[in-house]
Amino acid sequence: MRKIIIAGNWKMNKGLSDTREFVKELVDTISSLELKHTIPLIAPAYPFLQEALRESFGSAVQIAAQNVSLHSDGAFTGEVSATMLASLGLKYGIIGHSERRQYHEETDSDVLGKMHKLFEQKITPILCIGETLAQRDANQTAATILSQLKGCLHGVEMHSGNEIVIAYEPVWAIGTGRTATPEQAQEVHALIRKWLRDNYPSAVAENMAILYGGSVKPDNLKSLLACEDIDGGLIGGASLKVDDFVAMVKIANDSLA
Ligand code: 13P
Repeated sequence: MRKIIIAGNWKMNKGLSDTREFVKELVDTISSLELKHTIPLIAPAYPFLQEALRESFGSAVQIAAQNVSLHSDGAFTGEVSATMLASLGLKYGIIGHSERRQYHEETDSDVLGKMHKLFEQKITPILCIGETLAQRDANQTAATILSQLKGCLHGVEMHSGNEIVIAYEPVWAIGTGRTATPEQAQEVHALIRKWLRDNYPSAVAENMAILYGGSVKPDNLKSLLACEDIDGGLIGGASLKVDDFVAMVKIANDSLA
C-alpha cells in the first residue's frame, strides 16, 4: 500500500508565532491518532523552517521548503541553497510550483536543476506539474503533463519510487475554489502513473506518491482519495487553519482503514 501525504503549502502566509502555534497544535493533536500510512507535512516560509522543525521534532509531522536555489552557493542575493536546507535537517522540498513557473519564469530545466540540488543533499523533491486553463481548453492537458514529466525528469534515475513525490496541480484549480472532479484528477494521475510505468522499473510507478492539488478541502478530500491513483493532497488555503488540516489528516488516515 502506498503512503498518503497530506501536505500544506502555506505559500507566503504565517509568521513566526503563527507557525510555532500551528505546528505545536498539530503535533499535539495527531499524537493521539494512530497514523498508519498517512504523513502530515507542512511547508512554511523559509525564515520559519527551523521553528517548524523544532516544534515537530520526534513527531510524525514532516516539514518542507517551498523552493530551493538552482545554485550551490555564492553571489545569488536572496536565494537559499539545498546545502543550507539540509543543514537544518530538512527532508522535503517543493519544486516547480505553478506560482514559481508563472511569476518567476521557472522552466522545466530549472526544475530539473533544482531537483538535482535536492538529491545531492538527500532532500526528497515534491515535483509540481499541471496544465493551465488555456491548455485544458485546447485539449492539451495530456501533452502538457507528459512534456513536464519528460522535461523535469530528463535523465533522472529512479528505482524505488521513494526518490520523489509528484504533485499534480491543475493551475485553473489553484486558489479558485474550482476543484478538478475526482474523475478529472484520476485521469491525469493515471496518465502520470502510466508514464512512470513505461519509463522506470515497476516499483517506481507502484510506490510513488502522486498528490492532487487545487482547492482541496475537508469536504472534497475523501472523494479524491477514493481514486485509485491519488495518494494525498498538496493543499494551499485549507492548510492554513489547523482544524481543517487535522480534519484532512484524519480523513486520509480513515481512508486506509
Ligand atoms: P489551494 O489549495 O489554495 O487551491 O492551493 C493549491 C496549491 O497551490 C498548493 O500548492
